[in-house]
Amino acid sequence: MAEAKTARITVKDKEIDLPVLTPTVGPECVDIRKLYGQGGVFTFDPGFTSTAACESAITYIDGDVGELWYRGYPIEQLAEKSHYLEVCYLLLNGELPNAEQLEKFETLITRHTMVHEQMHYFFRGFRRDSHPMATMVGVVGAMSAFYHDSTDINDPVQREIASHRLIAKLPTIAAMAYKYSIGQPFVYPRNELDYASNFLHMCFSVPAEKYEVNPALARAMDRIFTLHADHEQNASTSTVRLAGSSGANPFACIAAGIACLWGPAHGGANQAALEMLQQIGSVDRIPEYIKRAKDKDDPFRLMGFGHRVYKNFDPRAKIMKESADEVLDILGIHNNPTLQVAKELEKIALEDDYFVSKKLYPNVDFYSGIILSAMGFPTSMFTPIFALSRTVGWISQWKEMLGDPDNKIGRPRQLYVGSDKRDYVDVAKR
Ligand code: CMC
Repeated sequence: MAEAKTARITVKDKEIDLPVLTPTVGPECVDIRKLYGQGGVFTFDPGFTSTAACESAITYIDGDVGELWYRGYPIEQLAEKSHYLEVCYLLLNGELPNAEQLEKFETLITRHTMVHEQMHYFFRGFRRDSHPMATMVGVVGAMSAFYHDSTDINDPVQREIASHRLIAKLPTIAAMAYKYSIGQPFVYPRNELDYASNFLHMCFSVPAEKYEVNPALARAMDRIFTLHADHEQNASTSTVRLAGSSGANPFACIAAGIACLWGPAHGGANQAALEMLQQIGSVDRIPEYIKRAKDKDDPFRLMGFGHRVYKNFDPRAKIMKESADEVLDILGIHNNPTLQVAKELEKIALEDDYFVSKKLYPNVDFYSGIILSAMGFPTSMFTPIFALSRTVGWISQWKEMLGDPDNKIGRPRQLYVGSDKRDYVDVAKR
């Protein structure tokens, strides 16, 4: 029998043996759960750069090689051969569905796409010029006020219903947030359309005229959903898990995830990346921006570049780049200046010492904005589209956490650097 591995550390002259856990693939993990009890010390790891916060069987990333798998399946194969709802089933259930399971699942999701009619009034409480992400944080959180019968996290049936509702209704909510922001009427979902076509229909059709969804664009949209579906323990997923660890209801947890995703270092980077490309404007201005990105005293960063885990090409970015070419071709957009700037910027950055030595490669957000913008979405809709795509990942991770016997409320420790204990001083004496 193989001997169990341990890592030995010495704390205050005391030797402590800590178990070493072996994953299917990837780095081993030193199990430090007993460290405080045995050694009286915490570990210090701001930003969780070396800390595995949970066990998970959903997604695997090899950041050095640039690989991403959902339930063991490489993202390239899923992007080419599968489609988003099949990927949703896979992420939620662990296995690819057979034909009957897939049909049942697709029907189930399609039949839940409408939102409670009273939610329309809830939308009207927001200012017209609200960012769609602000609206989404509020409306998704408010789902717990509309769907009381699926908020009991201890009931597996309610958990299941909440999962399906979230996957089904997020595109409707995102499209409503968009329509509201441009002053157009909400468009109801249509059950004969597939998931991606339905989203395009709800965003771009108007009651006054017929709108035909372009199947090639729907396919590109579906691929964007697939590429964003999950990404292991990123900031928003960890936020969902942390919120869920307290027993909060699923709608509240997903709203927390959306709020976290909004930041420009995370999902908000797709909006920021396109705005940056537009701001650069022409190829001759790239050196100026590269210089700024390298300047320590300038807060400017190349948006859509760099990643905490990928120290190689983000595999999603490679697929996204091909997709961008295809979409612009379908739409007959040639010599798109933003795409030209993006391609040239990528080339220059990949040859530049600063970016090479820090292993900064384009990430998923570098090209997605070009596709979405060509499809007709304003930049403010980029992050909501990321949010609706990621919802299945958040839910899968949330469900996995609730089923984990080791699940505890998430409660990090701290390295206190504040004042030592002191006595209150009366205001007159300060
Ligand atoms: N432009 C210029 N320099 C950069 C960039 C960039 N985009 N990203 C990282 N660096 C530098 C950074 O200044 C630091 O330099 P030094 O070691 O000299 O201090 C070094 O590279 C390491 O950066 P870090 O901030 O310590 O790395 P991190 O793992 O904490 O941050 C990141 C990862 C994604 C937040 C960061 O690369 C970034 O801000 N990128 C731009 C925003 C972006 O595109 N985000 C989308 C991420 S992918 C989609 C998603 O998951 O949401």
